[in-house]
Order: sequence, then structure tokens, then C-alpha cells
Amino acid sequence: MSQPLTARRSAPISGRVKVPGDKSISHRALILAALAAGRTRINGLLEAEDVMATARAIRALGAEVTRRGEVFEVLGQGVGGLKAPEVPLDFGNSGTACRLMLGVVAGHGMRADFTGDASLCRRPMSRVLDPLIAMGLQVEGPGDTLPLNVEGTEDILPIVYDLPVPSAQVKSAILLAGLHAPGRTTVVEPLPTRDHTERMLRAFGAEVTIEDRADGSRAVTVCGDAELAGADITVPGDPSSAAFLVAAGLICPGSEVVIENVLMNPTRIGFIDTLKTMGADIDVLGLRDEAGEPVGDLRVRASDLKAVRVPAERAPAMIDEYPVLAVLAAFAEGETRMEGLAELKVKESDRLAATANGLAACGVEARVEGDDLIVRGSGAVKGGGHVKTHMDHRIAMAFLVLGLGAEEPVTVDDIGMIATSFPGFVQLLSGLGARLS
Ligand code: S3P
Repeated sequence: MSQPLTARRSAPISGRVKVPGDKSISHRALILAALAAGRTRINGLLEAEDVMATARAIRALGAEVTRRGEVFEVLGQGVGGLKAPEVPLDFGNSGTACRLMLGVVAGHGMRADFTGDASLCRRPMSRVLDPLIAMGLQVEGPGDTLPLNVEGTEDILPIVYDLPVPSAQVKSAILLAGLHAPGRTTVVEPLPTRDHTERMLRAFGAEVTIEDRADGSRAVTVCGDAELAGADITVPGDPSSAAFLVAAGLICPGSEVVIENVLMNPTRIGFIDTLKTMGADIDVLGLRDEAGEPVGDLRVRASDLKAVRVPAERAPAMIDEYPVLAVLAAFAEGETRMEGLAELKVKESDRLAATANGLAACGVEARVEGDDLIVRGSGAVKGGGHVKTHMDHRIAMAFLVLGLGAEEPVTVDDIGMIATSFPGFVQLLSGLGARLS
């Protein structure tokens, strides 16, 4: 049963809030905890459906996961110590959970069935299977999509792999498989992608080296036969969730919002950098280091925005923020061009098409040229549209935000998927003054 929701033009959005924990870091904390010897305590874990899929998977592989108040405790089994699952591993909507766990299973002598929901079963897996097969994973299945039956090996091989696309999921899967290999496994990424796996591997005691190369690429190496030890992890607020509140604050006149404790990792804040060049009034307050990641509080005030060109090289640092950036571009003066967005076509939906179509439904001039998205803004948005979300949480949230600043109400066809990344989104935004019903 789909759950539609309508957003209406809102009075100022104001208040102080915290967003839920970072999704990428939450997945990795659970996975590395399962591969570590001993107990890991995770504070601030994102309790959203995607992360719970990872929790279910590591449980099925023999890790103990217990919630004690605010803290998740995981009793890990050590690198190579996980057992074969007795049930298929169902990753729901989560590409990250599925791809990272393929890396984990690759390094264990076990068979496992991987499956997911209709959206995940359409997404390409060859990008992660190709390098894992080169390391020794065996795969049964007619194509490169779920469902798949895979068989890992205790004799996994170390490799040097040049990523054909900048993908943190693929990088992470290879590094996780490399933990079991005899020798060094290196992933070369054409542009730096989010580096939470590297940071957290070090926190659990693995040896990781990183080389930034003159051509802009980055080589990440993990030493195999690794021994990981349980750690205390604190998960900061998710900047990709904060992005929707930032956007609402910028477009609702008179708004002032403070979003506390947001991850400020340089590989994740391309959105904030871009908004500043658009004239957004955003300050990062109290920048600090928490458990190996930079964290700060974002103060956002309503702003008149101007159009911008976003170069392709910035895409990895804001890959999940394009739908909401495109919404902001609709409120900005002039033509915004977002370049090099091929990866958006293989997210939870084809986000390039879903964003352009959603904007068109709301009276905004938007077009796709090759892999670029072009949005013409005039400072005001008509709205009045019915937006198709295609089982995509970020499309749903982006267009609800659009409705808060548009002249006429905007309805999205289904808010059910928002729970995959941002449980409580509607209540939190309503609490700040947004009109959602
Ligand atoms: C993620 C990496 C990105 C991002 C996804 C989370 C991760 O995907 O879009 O939401 O946690 O590693 P790609 O690796 O496909 O770029």
C-alpha cells in the first residue's frame, strides 16, 4: 500500500535539531564489528531499514547483535570466523549492505544466497562481482543482478584493481575481501570517494595506506591476514539526511535552522561547498573531531540563490545530494548545470530521469543532456505536481522539500521508502514548521 503525502508552502523553518546517524558509517560499523574479535559498542547507529538489513545479515553469519539502550553491542567472530548463513540474505533496498557483504562473504569458505527488493534486484552487481571473482569468489546466476548464489573461499587472492567508476561500495567490498588475503590488496579510484571504510579499518586495527596521486586518483591498500579488535564507535549525523533540512531552511523565507552534530568528512560535503557558491547562508559551527571523523553544527538561514555549474569531479562528494540540489536549482536565479551524473541512473531509481520528470511535473524547466542535468530557475516555483518516487527515498524527500517553497501544493506518491534512510523525517521537518499532511 503506497502512502502519498502533500507538502504545502510553509512559514519559516526554525529550530535546533539532530539528524539520525550516518548511513554509510553505520553499515561499516556493524560489518567491521562482525569481523573483529571481541565486543564493539556503537553509539548513534542509524536505526533505518537499510542498516537493519546489514544487522540481519551479520547475525545470520554468526555475529551477536544486541541493543542496550542507545548503544548497539556486537560480538564479532574475527576475520575469517563467520559461519555460512542458513537463510537467504535479504538486503531489502540497500545497495551498500548488499555490495559490502559480497566482499565479506568472498573471503569466507561459504555459500550464500543474496536477494533484495524490486529496486535492488534491478541494480548492477557486476561492478562488484568482477573484482571479487578475480579474487576467487564464485557466482551462480544468469546475469549481474540479484538474486545471486555466491561461494566465497578461504584462499582469497590479493589484487590491484583500478575502479572503472568512482564507487565507495565497490572499493569497500574489495578492501573487506582483502582483509582475508595473503598480501596487500590495492584499489585505485579515479577520484576520491567516501573514505569511511579506510578510516574505520584503522580504528579496528587494520593496516591501511593511502596514496594521493598527481592525476587526482587515490590508491588505497589494505594489508591482508588482518586481525581486527572490537572498538568503540560513535556515528555522527548523516550529511545526506541533513541536506533536506538545509534545503528547506534555504527556500522557506525567514528560516533559521541549526542542525547539530553533522559529519563534515571532505568526501561527503560537496553539497555544502556547492551551496556556498550559490550564495547560501550556511555556517559550520564548532568543527571538531569525533571518533576519527570531522563533525560540526550547520547553521542555515533562508537565502536568495543563484545558478551554478557543478563539475563532474565533484560528483563523488555529493552523489546522493543531486535530487535535492536540483530542487534548490529550481529556486535559484538562472540556469544550473550539473555535469557527469551517469552514476545517478543506477541508484535506488534512475535518479536523473526521476528528478527531471519530478521537476517538470512541478512546472520547472529541466532537461537531461547526455549525463548532465540542466535546471532553469527563476526564484519562484509553481508546484502543483504529483511526483512519482519510483521506490526512491531521496526522490520522495527532495520533492516534499520542493513543495514547502512552491506556490501550489506538491504530492509525492509514496513516502514508505523514507524509512530506509531517514526514519522520523516527516515528524522532524513538521516539528520545525513544515506543512506536510
Ligand atoms: C555509499 C556509496 C555511494 C552512495 C551510497 C552509499 C557507501 O554509492 O551513493 O548511498 O556507503 O559506500 P556508490 O558506491 O555506488 O557510489
